Amino acid sequence: MAKILNTTPKAIRFYENKELIFPEKDEANGYRIFTENDLLRLSTILSLREVGFQVKDIKELLEDPDMSITQYLNVQRLALFEKWIEMKDMLNTLDHMIKHTENGNDADPMIDIHRMAKHLKNLKEIRKNWRDKWDFDSWADDFDQNIKKEGHTFNVHQDYDEALAKVAATIQLKEGDTCLDIGIGTGNLGSRFLAKGISIIGVDQSEKMLEACKRKHPAIDTRKGHFLALPLLDNQTDGIVSSYALHHLPDSEKLLALEEMTRVLKPGGEICIADLMFINEDHRKSVMDGYRTANNTEAVFAIEDEYYADRSVLAEWLSTNGYQVQTFQINDILSVIYAKRCETD
Ligand SMILES: C[S@@+](CC[C@H](N)C(=O)[O-])C[C@H]1O[C@@H](n2cnc3c(N)ncnc32)[C@H](O)[C@@H]1O
Repeated sequence: MAKILNTTPKAIRFYENKELIFPEKDEANGYRIFTENDLLRLSTILSLREVGFQVKDIKELLEDPDMSITQYLNVQRLALFEKWIEMKDMLNTLDHMIKHTENGNDADPMIDIHRMAKHLKNLKEIRKNWRDKWDFDSWADDFDQNIKKEGHTFNVHQDYDEALAKVAATIQLKEGDTCLDIGIGTGNLGSRFLAKGISIIGVDQSEKMLEACKRKHPAIDTRKGHFLALPLLDNQTDGIVSSYALHHLPDSEKLLALEEMTRVLKPGGEICIADLMFINEDHRKSVMDGYRTANNTEAVFAIEDEYYADRSVLAEWLSTNGYQVQTFQINDILSVIYAKRCETD
């Protein structure tokens, strides 16, 4: 068996001790009898080890009847991307530290090195601290029904179709291009591009949303991931779209999300985001004052439960980071931001 699988008998015994495989034993001589099923199971274990799975996770996977192998591989892909992105942050910081010490003009270079290390620590924490406090998994089955319903005195999804249509009409993608939809949900935005021959990669942090999306649109390549760790290589996509998702990220994380989008976007690529946001802080204040004066507690609660962006901050970041930016106002709390990245960095 070890020879067939190009491994060692010791490794096979290890997986037996860890109760990942259960070969029968010959009573008389204690020899193990491996069946074809054992062979298949062992080769799965070895393949998963090769792509970085831990033994305990493989055990869980093989014991869980509800989770498919694709879902587990998806989780593993995200874990590897998260590690890779963290390593890149560390290497960038290290490069800066080396440059700084090489210059040698500073009286105490260690002060700046500590500052860089602190910044890195902060970055690592932000990247792994986001939690889904809304439990999107539980929204997945009814999501498409619920967006059609009006709230009692406030409807976050007012002009939903118009916003999605604006994104689809604004971003200039052509047949054969790849487009990433972040926070794809059930696929209502990403699927608009399929008929044009554009390949869609749909990223979402919710397993159930991805399942619902895949059921509706099998052609979409669904991937588990999140705004701060996109499961894509650098410069991989021609376009990025997102609708009604960015406002689930605290303001301190939104600019990092734009940075992460820039990492995966090709030079000359385009971003188009439709989301709940205010034009700027004065606009936020006047809209919120309006709801408070009208005693619309439903609106105030709904807005304060999430993180509606200040559009001017996003536009400013994009402009100073090599994008040409256009903004469109759909209604008092809904905007579309379009940004085209320069061909050269
Ligand atoms: C309100 S739904 C919108 C879904 C879809 N874009 C649409 O317009 O119908 C928000 C989606 O964003 C996803 N989401 C929220 N925060 C996210 C994050 N940090 N990274 C990736 N997806 C996120 C949720 O899981 C959910 O599927």
